[in-house]
Amino acid sequence: MNEYIRECGLSGNIPRHVAIIMDGNGRWATKRGLPRSVGHRAGMEALRDLITASSELGIEALTLYAFSTENWKRPRDEVGTLFSLVVEYFNREISELHEKGVRIRVLGDMSRVPQKARAALMRAEDMTHDNRGLKLNLAINYGARAELVRAARALAEDVSNGGMAPDAIDEAAVSSRLYTSGQPDVDLLIRTGGEMRLSNFLLYQSAYAELLFTDTLFPDFDKAHYLDAIREFQGRSRRFGAIK
Ligand code: FPP
Repeated sequence: MNEYIRECGLSGNIPRHVAIIMDGNGRWATKRGLPRSVGHRAGMEALRDLITASSELGIEALTLYAFSTENWKRPRDEVGTLFSLVVEYFNREISELHEKGVRIRVLGDMSRVPQKARAALMRAEDMTHDNRGLKLNLAINYGARAELVRAARALAEDVSNGGMAPDAIDEAAVSSRLYTSGQPDVDLLIRTGGEMRLSNFLLYQSAYAELLFTDTLFPDFDKAHYLDAIREFQGRSRRFGAIK
């Protein structure tokens, strides 16, 4: 257990994979009489401390739900704002993330992502590819059902070209065709903003995740809230279907 974990008042039972549904940016802004875009920007600013804390706690993977396959239904302007924030974020933060050894991976179908954002994301992935620190996954144009369909197609292709027998399809084979291939399942899934649903996020990987719903709006979800969430996780009894 590292010193930082002790300083934070946590035990050594650190979740290996944390996933966050960053909800409530719009309401945070509206409550202040500001445009929703300001809320998204405030959400972006909240990321830094969460990523730093995750790195220092030795969390293996942190997955952030930045844009779902359903978010295209939002007004064009808002979609544009979200992708320009992604570009701004990476232009500004990539060197520091790289220095911290963070490895970036994008989960989702990049083909529909606007060109500038796609280029920024691909650059971030390439630049940090060999890093060995925190695995930072950004779910962008991501939906868990679409991810499972994609995995099913990949398996079907392997079977149809003779590379795999149908009965060789097991859980490991499915996992290895997901965007999170090679990473541990989600241990702790946090949703800010008061709603209690999963919204098509990491449905396969979260089969045994501990779920934590908080009313705190994402821009207000700071390091102290994050450590509280991990503390709550550490107090849960995880049985994975067995009995204690
Ligand atoms: C949900 O809040 C939030 C989003 C759809 C986008 C999350 C994006 C960020 C935190 C910033 C950009 C990300 C990166 C990676 C730079 P909402 O708009 O649904 O809030 P509401 O429920 O209050 O309307």
